[in-house]
Amino acid sequence: MNTDHADVIYQGKTHTFPVVTGTEGEKAIDISSLRRETGLVTYDNSYQNTAACHSAITYIDGERGILRYRGYPIEDIAGKTTFVDTAYLLLHGEFPGKEQRALFSRKLTEYSLVHEDMIHFFDGFPRGAHPMHILSTMINALATFYPNVDLLSLQEDIDSSATRLISMVRTLAAFAYKKSIGEPMVYPRHNLSYCANFLNMMFHSPVKPYEIDQDIVDVLNLLLVLHADHEQNCSTTTVRIIGSAQVNLYATISAGISALSGPLHGGANQEVMNMLRQIRDSNATIDAVLRRAKDKADPFRLMGFGHRIYKTYDPRARIIKEACDKALKKMRVSDPLLEIAIELEQKALADEYFVSKHLYPNVDFYSGIIYRALGIPENMFTVMFALGRLPGWIAHWNEMLRDKDRKIARPRQIYTGLPLRHCNESPR
Ligand code: SDX
Repeated sequence: MNTDHADVIYQGKTHTFPVVTGTEGEKAIDISSLRRETGLVTYDNSYQNTAACHSAITYIDGERGILRYRGYPIEDIAGKTTFVDTAYLLLHGEFPGKEQRALFSRKLTEYSLVHEDMIHFFDGFPRGAHPMHILSTMINALATFYPNVDLLSLQEDIDSSATRLISMVRTLAAFAYKKSIGEPMVYPRHNLSYCANFLNMMFHSPVKPYEIDQDIVDVLNLLLVLHADHEQNCSTTTVRIIGSAQVNLYATISAGISALSGPLHGGANQEVMNMLRQIRDSNATIDAVLRRAKDKADPFRLMGFGHRIYKTYDPRARIIKEACDKALKKMRVSDPLLEIAIELEQKALADEYFVSKHLYPNVDFYSGIIYRALGIPENMFTVMFALGRLPGWIAHWNEMLRDKDRKIARPRQIYTGLPLRHCNESPR
């Protein structure tokens, strides 16, 4: 019996609701019976205080800067395991054993080709189309080539559709990039690892063979691992809400990609580079930039700073910053934008406004600088975020589908429109 409870006293009557406790001691009032008992609903703008589900995938403690995938601290995983192993961990709850890894890798290779008829779709997009819009469209279109995805029931079908998606997203992303620069598309190869295959599809050309550099492959694995999941963020919540209507996996992920493309969410990594470049080109002082970020009358915000959950340094930003220093030194790349970013961080973290509002660098603040050093074009930065986040989205979709208490998501509202009124004459 859960002895923990919360009392709501309303119109002189006391209503008692159970308090549920998570693995790490976090607590929530279970208000499932609130409206039935009191006629009340709760109002919580943008779900800032609302737990919409139970989940066993990722744990975040925003006050202490903790991020764990299936119980493992991100520091134990990032830079120490591959993205493929991390994807398997998020999807299945454990790292793969030798046989499971071999089968998963074989399936990822097998599924890496897209249907040849899909390639013609790329001809229809305007040259300057943003790769996130192309990716979202192409992922949605997969349901027309693999219609059984609408009838997914057996777990093995779900697993194969998930593996197909994790594999194919690389090919579609690289094809979108090649199309945007007018180069021939490069097909996936059977003898390259997940990340090496993606880099080869992005940068190989018939006249300029791409040399696989394991250091670069390792950096890309690290970046994709760091982006792989983040519990109930905007795009994952989108996936859960759309998936709750039993929409097929491809359409559900297509919506997640669209949510991620927003500049307040995954689109921030591209916005950070725009901000750093504007600072460099305008010769604005860092102090002037910080003044603008603090000025309520100015819509400018410090992109890559602040977070709904982290009220201390985002552990991913810390790891990316270290990797950034190492990668640029190893590649003998000096990027003036990195110097600006470091100075911006130092001054912001010494500024009362940012300290008092717990505004720290988030995952997007340094990631763009590494992607740039790897040769990834800026309009592909958020696509890289989507490649990383895909296993997390699918793991949450799967978890939601298997929840025995699953219901279609349908929040309530507080109506503030006009009261009842009638048309003076019958509507024309
Ligand atoms: C991601 O949820 C996730 O987990 C997301 C993510 C993931 O892995 O999925 O971590 C990925 O989306 C990271 C965030 C990327 N976005 C940005 O970097 C955009 C810049 N950041 C801000 O827009 C903002 O910090 C958000 C959107 C990230 C969080 O916004 P909140 O939680 O709604 O906070 P808020 O806007 O209510 O801000 C609280 C206060 C406000 O001041 P007051 O009204 O209290 O005086 O802090 C200020 C804000 O003005 N503030 C900022 C700021 N962020 C918040 N001021 C200047 N610069 C900023 N970046």
